[in-house]
Amino acid sequence: MKFTTPANRNPIDRLKVVGQSTQRIDGPLKTTGTAPYAYEQNDAAPGAAYGYIVGAAIAKGRIGSIDVTRARAAPGVLGIVTADNAGKVGNGDFYTARALAGPDIQHYHQAVALVVAETFEQARAAAQLVRVQYVQADGAYDLAKAKEKPPRRQPLQQKQPRDTAIGDFEAAYAAAPVKLDATYTTPDHAHTMLEPHATIAAWDGDRLTLWTAIQIVSWGTRDMAKILGIRKENIRIVSPYIGGGFGGKGSVLADAVLAALAARQLGRPVKVALQRPLMFNNTTHRAATIQRIRIATDKAGRITAIGHESWSGNLGDNPESATAPTRLLYAGANRMTRLRVAHLDLPEANAMRAPGETPGMMALEIAMDEMAEKLGLDPVAFRILNDTQVDPESPSRPFSQRQLVECLRSGAEHFGWERRAARPGMRRDGRWLVGMGVASAIRGAQVQKSAASVRLDARGVITVETDMTDIGTGTYTILAQTAAEMMGVGLDRVVVRLGDSTFPPGAGSGGQFGAASSTAGVYAACVKLRAMAAQRLGLDGANVEFLGGRVRAGGTSKPLTDAAVGGDLVAQDTMEYGDLNKRFAQQTFAAHFVEVGVDAETGEIRVRRMLAVCAAGRIINPLAARSQIIGGMTMGAGAALMEELVVDKRAGFFVNHDMASYEVPVHADIPHQDVIFLDEADPTIGPLKAKGVGELGISGVPAAIANAVYDATGIRVREYPITLDKLL
Ligand code: MOS
Repeated sequence: MKFTTPANRNPIDRLKVVGQSTQRIDGPLKTTGTAPYAYEQNDAAPGAAYGYIVGAAIAKGRIGSIDVTRARAAPGVLGIVTADNAGKVGNGDFYTARALAGPDIQHYHQAVALVVAETFEQARAAAQLVRVQYVQADGAYDLAKAKEKPPRRQPLQQKQPRDTAIGDFEAAYAAAPVKLDATYTTPDHAHTMLEPHATIAAWDGDRLTLWTAIQIVSWGTRDMAKILGIRKENIRIVSPYIGGGFGGKGSVLADAVLAALAARQLGRPVKVALQRPLMFNNTTHRAATIQRIRIATDKAGRITAIGHESWSGNLGDNPESATAPTRLLYAGANRMTRLRVAHLDLPEANAMRAPGETPGMMALEIAMDEMAEKLGLDPVAFRILNDTQVDPESPSRPFSQRQLVECLRSGAEHFGWERRAARPGMRRDGRWLVGMGVASAIRGAQVQKSAASVRLDARGVITVETDMTDIGTGTYTILAQTAAEMMGVGLDRVVVRLGDSTFPPGAGSGGQFGAASSTAGVYAACVKLRAMAAQRLGLDGANVEFLGGRVRAGGTSKPLTDAAVGGDLVAQDTMEYGDLNKRFAQQTFAAHFVEVGVDAETGEIRVRRMLAVCAAGRIINPLAARSQIIGGMTMGAGAALMEELVVDKRAGFFVNHDMASYEVPVHADIPHQDVIFLDEADPTIGPLKAKGVGELGISGVPAAIANAVYDATGIRVREYPITLDKLL
């Protein structure tokens, strides 16, 4: 089905099931521990041996020699995969660092060996006996230094332009009466998902099956085929449950590649869970950035020039697209953005929840606060004054919907923004200095083509199948809601099966496109199934209604189950899109409000209250969407106040590589969160008129916290994370 014009009224608009808060249909499986995660698929691959990864102890150089004699002779050891015996191992398209080092080493903790044994403990013990002699080379690990050097390679072709220029930024900036030129830094961040990267691999002849934790199954088959040099048709990926990803499980990584190589060598299934201490340096992370922002306004506070330059380091060629929000968020005739990559020999930087927008708004939305203060304007009013209803880089292109102003207004009212003190450092509660901060948020609402199949059987059960994944976001539930609404049955009549590459290819989970895209695929398949059912029942397909387990047309009504008499009905379709994303800027918006307390003596910072007001199209399941937003807000609090991968700039690795030393927020850090969704339905996105909220919740939050800390203390911190030492 092709979706090219704004959606008309359709069966989803009844909102009997869609749009209702629904608990997760997979919840009982998860809370009883019976949902099989990748590492637990023992029944699927009986007799699997255990693999243990040995990570490189240097960041750059090569393996001089590797001695596995003692490890090979250790109890229970079945084999050891190294570059010497693995054959050719290439790299994938999404993650570009190689999964197996040798002879050269690209980054610290890049896998140099996989030790496989009968038990996990035997593999772990033997791994300590692998002796590697390294030949170390000098590497670049310091972003601030590397950013001054010319890039080592010419950049590859980019999907997003690296530089944009509208009007004459420099002249307008120079001429303006009020201006800001400030530089902000954000550190490297780790995804820290609870489930580690994990895979069981099994071969049947030349066919490979991987039970693995992955966000986008079709990227996994594509990349594994490229890495191993086999046909992707010979690879099956099964990934029904995933314990978080945040961009860190977009495609296959070392656990999957090494499990596949070992299983092939041994002729036996092999399972690998990446050890927690390796996750931070072996896999990918969000790149640190250095961002210079210049904003100039007229005396009334209207932006006349806005410029944003960002530098980030990477092993590969992709910059963190931190300028993305600045290109769209505010009006202003003269504009300039620049993205630069500094080549670093740290582990590969790649996508992490709201890549681009998260670090970009960490800088931009502090800069907006600083400008408001220079102008003597309220930060909410300053943002409203500079709203735009068209893409400021391309004024003939409107936003499909943009209720940022309503988010800001409604948020200010609900949060009690008028109680904010006139000047920073003026409100006190005992020993606490109390402050409020605000930030806008914008995050893209892309859709991807997505396929599904739906089956109606004689029991009246609708079975949905797609290789779409549920990374803890609620996909099972919203796809069930979509099918139930379309087919006019209760949720208890719908079965959803996900994450198997033998199912029709879905969008996968990434870029907050999963919800809108995968439900649209199910919608398309259901449109076909409805036509097939109506035809079987001899009803007029054009005016048919599916409701309450019955199918009605004209004066006739028949049970839906009658349509399956004579055999199940199965329909499959793919929703594809035309040029709506070119004609309209499709984005989600939010306003974040935060109140913090800062201990006047110690500088300890406590978040007291958080509110997000979101405008994100139709909300398919308000309960699940709220969970996504508060999860994002919590991650935003981490980015503001604690998260930082500390780089050892001599040896080239992230020092704090475990969950004891890489700090993330816990419940006690987040006392009170509220989420309000504005009433929206965006007909340009797809038939559900829904956008997606998985990444909106984090966007903007860190700056709202930074601005609240400033309001409490009068101290402006431009280097994240905002730790108490920076206030003293
Ligand atoms: Mo996301 S960072 O596109 O999983």
